[in-house]
Amino acid sequence: MAGGIAAGELPDQLLHRTGAGEALQISHQRQAAITLASPAQPEALGQLNPQAHAAAFTGEAMQVASTQGVQAKVSQDLRQHGFIAQHRWQDGEMGHGQSPSFVDPSELARAVQWPSAPSEPLSGEPTGDGSGRRLRLGVLASGNGSNFEALVAACRTGNLAADVTLLVVNNPGCGAIARAARLGIRWQLHDHRSHSSREALDRALISSFEAAGVDLVVMAGWMRIVTQDLIDAFPERLINIHPSLLPSFRGARAIDQALAAGVRISGCTAHLVSLEVDTGPILVQAAVPVHSDDDAATLAARIHAQEHRILPLAVQLAAQRLGLL
Ligand code: GRF
Repeated sequence: MAGGIAAGELPDQLLHRTGAGEALQISHQRQAAITLASPAQPEALGQLNPQAHAAAFTGEAMQVASTQGVQAKVSQDLRQHGFIAQHRWQDGEMGHGQSPSFVDPSELARAVQWPSAPSEPLSGEPTGDGSGRRLRLGVLASGNGSNFEALVAACRTGNLAADVTLLVVNNPGCGAIARAARLGIRWQLHDHRSHSSREALDRALISSFEAAGVDLVVMAGWMRIVTQDLIDAFPERLINIHPSLLPSFRGARAIDQALAAGVRISGCTAHLVSLEVDTGPILVQAAVPVHSDDDAATLAARIHAQEHRILPLAVQLAAQRLGLL
């Protein structure tokens, strides 16, 4: 299979299960998930979409999962001329047991995350005495604010050498404000309804964040389309979290769309922001299963739990790219 993925390069267990007639789903960073329904033979992997092959050969991460629990991450490191495969049995018994509940916090660690979370604190121990460089984060939120709180928690537990310096919201009375008050984080309201244009709103945001001296800005459930002004004010420093495996299911109804499409795997993506909504270089993704009895609430809960894990890591990666840490 010149130029493609040779079957033997995927994890053995996955081949076994695929050969046993399970559906196999593959997604990668450039294209929506591809599902191969019940290929009879392992050789049927040769049916994989050629674009998926191409993506793997350009070094992009791929996520592979079977319908009954085994998930794998496969990426290619061109310098090593070989695949690096990491795989994990979701139920610990070669995939033959019950699927775990991913809403149960004890199951959080079983979702697939790419890149893997470091076993050590993301930036080492915070110095706490002001002698070390701690990032100053600005956060934008429109609603509940659970991702905002997850960032604050990561800072305060020492998992991220950063401080949330300022929260900006656009909706008076939103849940993020109550969280900020409880957590003692400074917040400001910039109600989009009182600005004449997107540009005017973004200019106000830029002024607030510049005055607060933030290094990076995180859109943690910011339900406004941003302008080039905001992107240019924080080049490669504007991060978004989205509840799907981008580029699948962009936009405001990603979870509903994933359910409607019948995908068996979904997840979340933290990425740098580009002008087109929900595009831009991907920093971190996590994949979760979609169960047949899921509704929007149960799938959202599973995805949100992973968002809270990957967003601090994405901040870390973005800062490291820029030499800020
Ligand atoms: C998250 O699902 C995020 O991916 C999306 O908006 C939601 C915000 O949730 N952009 P919360 O307000 O952080 O709880």
